[in-house]
Amino acid sequence: MSFPAFQTIIEPFRIKSVETIKSTTQKERRKALEEAGFNVFRLRAEDVLIDLLTDSGTSAMSAAQWGALIQGDESYAGSRSYYRFRDAVKDLTGFRHIIPTHQGRAAERILFHTVLKSGDVVPNNNHFDTTRANIEFEGAEARDLVIAEGRMPDLLHPFKGNIDLLALEKLLAEEGDRVPLVMVTVTNNSGGGQPVSLANLRGVRALCDRYRKPFFLDACRFAENAYFIKRREDGNAHRTPKEIAKEMFSLADGCTMSAKKDGLANIGGFLAMDSDDWAEQARNLLILTEGFPTYGGLAGYDLEAIARGLEEVVEESYLHYRIRSIEYLAEKLAAVDVPILRPAGGHAVYLDARSLLPHIPPRQYPGIALVNALYELGGVRGVEIGTVMFGLKPDGTEEPAALDLVRLAIPRRVYTQSHIDYVAESVIAAARASDGLRGYRIVSAPRMLRHFTARFEPLAGNADAR
Ligand code: F0G
Repeated sequence: MSFPAFQTIIEPFRIKSVETIKSTTQKERRKALEEAGFNVFRLRAEDVLIDLLTDSGTSAMSAAQWGALIQGDESYAGSRSYYRFRDAVKDLTGFRHIIPTHQGRAAERILFHTVLKSGDVVPNNNHFDTTRANIEFEGAEARDLVIAEGRMPDLLHPFKGNIDLLALEKLLAEEGDRVPLVMVTVTNNSGGGQPVSLANLRGVRALCDRYRKPFFLDACRFAENAYFIKRREDGNAHRTPKEIAKEMFSLADGCTMSAKKDGLANIGGFLAMDSDDWAEQARNLLILTEGFPTYGGLAGYDLEAIARGLEEVVEESYLHYRIRSIEYLAEKLAAVDVPILRPAGGHAVYLDARSLLPHIPPRQYPGIALVNALYELGGVRGVEIGTVMFGLKPDGTEEPAALDLVRLAIPRRVYTQSHIDYVAESVIAAARASDGLRGYRIVSAPRMLRHFTARFEPLAGNADAR
């Protein structure tokens, strides 16, 4: 792929179909926020101007994907679409067993229910919320072993998603009996969308060989990770993202995948692996809750969209634009000293709410204060990745999370550069108002995955965002 020698990196697509977004006033947004219990998950999406809540399931599909939908074969068993999907996944991952699921967490639940027992430990660089919850649901422990650099928001490092190989070795040597599998998340979402290097994945492979442990990737953002490897890891500049992705998968024994991210689809996922024994157990569980093994909770047309999406997502022109558009937002914010996690992640910019709001202690949720200010001021919806999401321990106690971040996740192929310029302006306005922001307390919340449904109340002095 060659690009003309101009500075501007354009969106490598043109827009065929558009969706109107609704403008609201700050007063209307304040009211919507109050009605939502100050939790942006509870807002009506149409009251959001630019929705950066997640990059999951929010991609714009290509004309080719929409065209593929009509090819969907809706046969209950053995549909043509399944084989197309299976071949696309196999071509990329090389795994023997490809098990479709309705989304990533279904793959996690099935995998963990198959292989975990109470008291087990699952290491990962950082577990995402649903991954952690599914492990804890089995009575096991989800242990985060990202490298120390990955916990320092300001520090520049090319592969901040790497797992600490010494810590992993120590765990395997001392508590190996309790570890049924090792996981690594690419890119490391909870740690800032940071990539993992091939060298690190090879290190994990070597340890897993030595201690005879299966190694699974949480592969949701495998293509973004592959592109970072191409750009940052010696010896990979000449390779295609797909070649690099294939090598990443070749180092593992299986993966969980949410096709709602780097599958460029609105729904879907899969569990893939080499083990015949685990695959058989997983398929039996799949039938119990998801569906027959050739559709796994998806329509035939979803399988078609994913098969096509997996081809498009590794195109270099797409990844070039994708990674650059996130960097572009990060640069605009860093230029005016808004504290962000650096370098920019593959799918999102993470604002460091704890640094921006030092007067709000973690247990008064600085991330929620910033998310809500951003919505109220600009109509932009982000998400707290901090003490609300990760602070509640299985025994019911609360501890500050390692970081209090606000993630601005950029949906794939959805927003243009001017949308991103507007987002930067909104963040800068919220940062300027930071001295006046106050913390929150939780009024009601469930004991698990509380961030989705909790209700909050602003603490005194937080009359509005200004
Ligand atoms: N693993 C990672 C690293 C994820 O980021 C997610 C989802 C999942 C697993 C679960 O996949 O949603 O298809 O069930 N992350 C979304 C997010 C929800 O906003 O980051 P799922």
